[in-house]
Amino acid sequence: MENSFHGRTMATTAATGQAAYQATWAPLPDGFKQVPFNDLEAIKQATSDKTAAILIEAVQGEGGIWPASQEFMQGLRAWCDEQNLVLICDEVQAGSGRTGKFFSWQHYVRPDIVTMAKGLAGGVPIGAMLTGPRTDLFVPGDHGTTFGGNPIACAAGIATVKTITEQNLLDNATRMGEYWKEKLEHLCAKYPFIDSPRGIGLMRAVNVKHGLGPVIVQKAMEHGLLLNSTNPQTLRMIPPLILNTADIDEATELLDTTLAEVAELPAAQA
Ligand SMILES: Cc1ncc(COP(=O)(O)O)c(C=O)c1O
Repeated sequence: MENSFHGRTMATTAATGQAAYQATWAPLPDGFKQVPFNDLEAIKQATSDKTAAILIEAVQGEGGIWPASQEFMQGLRAWCDEQNLVLICDEVQAGSGRTGKFFSWQHYVRPDIVTMAKGLAGGVPIGAMLTGPRTDLFVPGDHGTTFGGNPIACAAGIATVKTITEQNLLDNATRMGEYWKEKLEHLCAKYPFIDSPRGIGLMRAVNVKHGLGPVIVQKAMEHGLLLNSTNPQTLRMIPPLILNTADIDEATELLDTTLAEVAELPAAQA
């Protein structure tokens, strides 16, 4: 999809729908087509008899926290079934409980392949690919890697999944997400240079006017709050799943102080 991000290996760079991530690495493997996100008609137009699979982030992360629409995902599943295409959900960023469900696809439809990494082992490097009933896609031995399934990463992965389950962190992500959402809506109403609060669970973002994203990130860091600006127009917030209301209150206060300072800058008043 346009605005997607799928990683930094050659094939996933080629799949990524943001030219800025690709230029340095050309020539890239061919065979990937990008279409606008949430546009089923564009998917249909781009499908040919050579199309094998559709790869999607149900919530675009690096692109600025844009959840897919329910209608689009339902239509995508139906189209893949009709055309015998494999539906692949990239859960590297939105998976592992981030959206309040273990997989972000659980808000929508079931894919045929799921890819995971990042939060899956609580910070220890890990990557995983899951496939469901369509076991005809891969058989043991089709693919391997030197460190695949290594005991340390897997132990960390098991501990993470157990912790998420035993500590009800999915419920916590949903509840804290709602609380954080209200705070962000309030800040957007207060400061005219931020708007469009959005997200799902603990994946949240706001739009930033005048390209002020990096300025806000820098000033917030000086106040002790770590944020991320995926591009100058976007402020992304992906806090840990163990977040509580006191953490959110403190973060809101720090962000409020930061935004009040930024509001004084000539760029914010343009
Ligand atoms: C949706 C998504 N897929 C895949 C990746 C993997 O990226 P990398 O190859 O840098 O580990 C990322 C990293 O940000 C991501 O957000």
